[in-house]
Amino acid sequence: MKKNIPLFKVFMPETVDKSLLETLHSGYIAEGPKVNEFNDIVSSFLGNKYTVPMNSCTTALTVSYRLAGIERGDEVISTPLTCVATNVPLLLMGAKIVWADCEKETGMIDPKKLEEIITNKTKAIVVLHKDGNLAKMDEIMAIAKKHNLKVIEDAAHTFGAKYKGKKVGNIGDYTCFSFQAIKHITTGDGGLLSVKNEEDYKLGRKYKWLGLDKEDNPSGGNIWLNDITISGYKGNMSDISASIGIEQMKHVDEILSKYHENGLYYESLLKDVDGVGLISRNKDDYPTFWTYVILVENRNKLIKALADEGIAASVVHPRNDNYSIFKESKRELTGVNYFSERELSLPCGWWVNKEDVEDIVKIIKDNI
Ligand SMILES: Cc1ncc(COP(=O)(O)O)c(C=O)c1O
Repeated sequence: MKKNIPLFKVFMPETVDKSLLETLHSGYIAEGPKVNEFNDIVSSFLGNKYTVPMNSCTTALTVSYRLAGIERGDEVISTPLTCVATNVPLLLMGAKIVWADCEKETGMIDPKKLEEIITNKTKAIVVLHKDGNLAKMDEIMAIAKKHNLKVIEDAAHTFGAKYKGKKVGNIGDYTCFSFQAIKHITTGDGGLLSVKNEEDYKLGRKYKWLGLDKEDNPSGGNIWLNDITISGYKGNMSDISASIGIEQMKHVDEILSKYHENGLYYESLLKDVDGVGLISRNKDDYPTFWTYVILVENRNKLIKALADEGIAASVVHPRNDNYSIFKESKRELTGVNYFSERELSLPCGWWVNKEDVEDIVKIIKDNI
């Protein structure tokens, strides 16, 4: 029988119904106790006390760019192999995006090609851990330190991932997570910024709520009577979203292990298949396998063969540098060319079982 396996699926435990209804009728639905509770849960999960929940990863990225001190005219190195949400906030801030080339083997920033594009105007490097795999953080952090640059990690696909045994959210200066609908953990829409020190934490809280911080209100009175010294965004998470997130986090380990098991199973079945390139990784990394990415020459034939059997497979994020809004940053990127012409995302989440993986692998072998 034809299967029905989507590339993404929304996980929603039944217990959300009750907790959501309670919040809806509690008289408090904006940022309040539920957001604080969700933040405590996520902060202890990540092992970082400096976490700031927000309404999206895009807001978290925007705030992190502010915290990194990026201003109009500054150069920022970023990857084109990502969701436009990584890069659009840079354009809106008037920064100049300088595209990093990516590794042919991983589709993530190639540290070997970084120093040649660093100038005295470079302020920061934006790294994506693509599709749940881990970028070469040791090398990138060393280069950033040498040139006094901030590192922002887009961890929209890597909630719960570990790089060389260390949880993402504790490595670069700023890490941005997404709780949008199709992420490992969802709050409907939502995001989170994790930082490394109290100063950034306090400033981050202000940037996410119009320049004010509810934790920093010494008089305990009307917060709007405090002075506002920075212009912030209206980017807070709501108690409605957080209520969903609290219930989701009760399942985080089982969700992540399902993605992980499927990823490792794909890897074991595909590792010796001629014509299929796999993403290389450190053995002590814990990738979150948001999708399982393979590199193939005959991508369209494979997409069609899988679709004929009811299995969704596609390129999730087309390269950003082809969009007109980024035309000023266009340059030759051989690694990006190679990867973007071959990458294909396969379904890998909790809704996929071992038999599905075996069937998908069989279709790949038959059509390669
Ligand atoms: C790599 C990447 N960065 C950022 C985002 C934006 O996340 P959000 O929708 O939470 O703003 C996404 C969304 O899919 C993404 O895939």
